[in-house]
Amino acid sequence: MSGPIIAIDGPAGAGKSTVGRAVAERLGVGYLDTGAMYRAVTFAVLRRGVDPRDEAAVLEVAGSVEMTVGEERVVVDGVDATSDIRGREVTSSVSFVAANPGVRSLLVEAQRGWVAKRGGGVVEGRDIGTVVFPDADLKLFVTASPRVRAERRVAEAGGDVDEMEASIIERDRLDSTRATSPLSVDAAAVTLDTSDLGIDEVVAAVVAEVEARSVGGGR
Ligand code: CDP
Repeated sequence: MSGPIIAIDGPAGAGKSTVGRAVAERLGVGYLDTGAMYRAVTFAVLRRGVDPRDEAAVLEVAGSVEMTVGEERVVVDGVDATSDIRGREVTSSVSFVAANPGVRSLLVEAQRGWVAKRGGGVVEGRDIGTVVFPDADLKLFVTASPRVRAERRVAEAGGDVDEMEASIIERDRLDSTRATSPLSVDAAAVTLDTSDLGIDEVVAAVVAEVEARSVGGGR
């Protein structure tokens, strides 16, 4: 029996992961953070001393890297990269790796395989509702103002809010203007602006959408 496919897209730091995990748990289905996959490839690229803008070399890394992106841990070429993939170095290079069309085809194929194997799940990223699963049962676009997103990231990981806001705005710009699968809102997506909502309220709003469409009960 196959379950629902729920696509969650949105810009950096909007709260997609927290919402995605909570909804997956609530529905009893798996959760895939596709951003962690782009981050894992970027980690391997940097670790092998490859320039993130060198398309051919980056694609070679993506084709040869051994990675496991699990809900708890991310392992890249046998190294636990769970915290390093969230670090500043990977964060400032990931948009270049994610703009690489060859890398995107490899990862999109892996994402579709992940869902096919499980018969559904909650999948989070930038192009999930638009490109990876255009027929998803529910598409959400989770967003918030750059300031609020920066404040949330700093609360989680530390740092300076102004610097974080500048880095988020730059990543949004790169992700929204790239040629292949740019970050955009699918026409069928429900947009949730979480600027003035606490996480519990966001999860409640998503669960309400899920229940309103009865996508939780298999199809
Ligand atoms: O968690 P955060 O919002 O910072 O970003 P992420 O979801 O970890 O994604 C990191 C980067 O991967 C994004 O800035 C995009 O460049 C890229 N990405 C993508 O291009 N497509 C996806 N489906 C997911 C992430």
